[in-house]
Amino acid sequence: MVQPLGVVGPALAGAGPALAGAGASTATVDPAEFNRLELDAWEAAAGSYGFLRKLTARANGSLLAAAGVARGLQVLDVGSGPGDLAAAAAALGADTVGIDVAPSMVRRAALANHAIPFRVGSFEAIPAGEGAFDAVLGGFVFNHVGSPEAALAEAWRVLRPGGHLALATWDAPSRNRLLGLFVDALSAIGAPPPSGLPAGPIHFRSDDELRALFVAAGFAGVGVSRIMFEARVPDLDTLWDGVLDSGGQIPPTITRQPQAIRGAIRAAFDVLAAVHRRPDGYAIPVSMQIIAGRRP
Ligand SMILES: C[S@@+](CC[C@H](N)C(=O)[O-])C[C@H]1O[C@@H](n2cnc3c(N)ncnc32)[C@H](O)[C@@H]1O
Repeated sequence: MVQPLGVVGPALAGAGPALAGAGASTATVDPAEFNRLELDAWEAAAGSYGFLRKLTARANGSLLAAAGVARGLQVLDVGSGPGDLAAAAAALGADTVGIDVAPSMVRRAALANHAIPFRVGSFEAIPAGEGAFDAVLGGFVFNHVGSPEAALAEAWRVLRPGGHLALATWDAPSRNRLLGLFVDALSAIGAPPPSGLPAGPIHFRSDDELRALFVAAGFAGVGVSRIMFEARVPDLDTLWDGVLDSGGQIPPTITRQPQAIRGAIRAAFDVLAAVHRRPDGYAIPVSMQIIAGRRP
């Protein structure tokens, strides 16, 4: 089934062919195909996901607080990756489990956190019974699901009445230059998407869109907040390689380009990043959205 992916952030408006359709609400992609690409990308990146991991960890405290995680509560970490958020919940005394769609990521989390059960499972088909959890947490996974509606319906199902869902996701490229530099460099070059990738796979959601999705899924007390800070990187290779070594849609949109186009994207990226140059490296503005709601 093909369905609209939704509107993306303003920085993508007018994007070139590499992001064709990404700036329009009419962009369509098959959610199953999108999920297959995500799974392949994360399975391949399970060992190298490290640079972004240090930055996504900055959202963990806010997620735990937004969902009211405390000793003795039943907590699910969806898209658990290396397991840091689950480990933070467990450190508070919560009875925590993690699920991730990528088996290699599950193995990595389990190896690093012996006391926490990690299982293979999708946000869109959570392997748990109705009302099993007091809190569902998801760090930077909502932007990787083909059907956000299906994911929210599943979170609702596995939460007990009164339970909380808290998700972190990347803010618009205009505020979150960490990814915005890549998005804008792709736009500047305007290369067609590499074969096998859907047009317009890179989607960011406004606060209003996030709220509307939560409300439509039945959540109450929905609120969106922001975490903003500067990520210090010693050089642009660290940022370029760090993002391209992760999963998701941006890395293959660049790495699967012919060498010349990839070089042109990198040159545009270097020019765009120059404004963030400091005497000791680069200070890249990062912005994250935290969205939380309660199952009434
Ligand atoms: C950006 S990483 C985030 C990992 C960790 N939560 C963090 O904050 O660093 C996204 C993770 O979500 C997983 N993922 C992607 N799509 C998923 C889905 N539909 N269901 C569950 N996990 C998914 C990926 O395998 C990856 O481990």
